[in-house]
Amino acid sequence: MRNQYQTTNGTGLDRESLPMRLWEKAKKYGVWNPRDFDFSQDAKDFAAFSPEEKEFFLQPIAQFQAGEEAVTLDLLPLIMAIAKEGRLEEEMFLTSFLWEEAKHVDGFNQFLTVVLDGQLYDFDHLIVNSYKTIFNDILPNVMDNLISDPSPVNQARASVTYNMIVEGTLAETGYYLLNLICKEKGFMPGMVEFTTKLKQDESRHVAYGIYLISRLVAENGDEVWQAVQDQMNMLLPLAMNVVKEGYEMWDVIPFGIDPAIIDAYALDQFQKRYQRIEKARNQSMAEVMSEAIATV
Ligand code: MN
Ligand code: FE2
Repeated sequence: MRNQYQTTNGTGLDRESLPMRLWEKAKKYGVWNPRDFDFSQDAKDFAAFSPEEKEFFLQPIAQFQAGEEAVTLDLLPLIMAIAKEGRLEEEMFLTSFLWEEAKHVDGFNQFLTVVLDGQLYDFDHLIVNSYKTIFNDILPNVMDNLISDPSPVNQARASVTYNMIVEGTLAETGYYLLNLICKEKGFMPGMVEFTTKLKQDESRHVAYGIYLISRLVAENGDEVWQAVQDQMNMLLPLAMNVVKEGYEMWDVIPFGIDPAIIDAYALDQFQKRYQRIEKARNQSMAEVMSEAIATV
């Protein structure tokens, strides 16, 4: 039952709020078409890779493709929880979030279609076990829990898993690795263009997640903070293992990639996010909002 509308009762939309600023950005930067990327040079570059290089390159691509599918399928319960609380500005932004994840699925699919010349390929052997634990079990569980119990603690667990670990740590590290292989070595110009767009979208998603978790901590205090810490601590070793298991499959790592650099990058991403959220423990909602706005 609803008896008023913020857009007609004199309240209006809070245009200065973080979600509305992200919404403005999404309308400006998130409207691109995966069809517009030209992957023809990428296909030639891929064809010239050695068999080992092909497998090594396809691993992050396979994990990205599956990951984009997972986050597209799993986001709805969070949008539902936010909508049920009447947070119109946040829900408006979340509509762009889900559409962007769908475009990411679309983009990786088009890349693979061109690069693998239309062949359907079973990538399952490239997807490592700790990845499966996160994406097949933990992520859908924490998101689905919001359907029956959208409590602040469950929202915090969901956002830590989705925004901090899957997007903020694993996806960011994946872009970094792809960048090392593609951009720095002058391969795959279509993929470089695609990941530039992806990174922009994901930075809005992660910014929202940091804001959401900080808001939940500022509004609800220690109970939520404890849940955030527990979820982070449970997921960090798994996330680090996704990176590790990936290169453990190789005696000699192709493209001269140094695993220690990838590890350090992943840990740094995690720590940066953790420190941002930790600050919210001693902040008011106004301080959370102004800090979040300063970063977008
Ligand atoms: Mn995505
Ligand atoms: Fe995302």
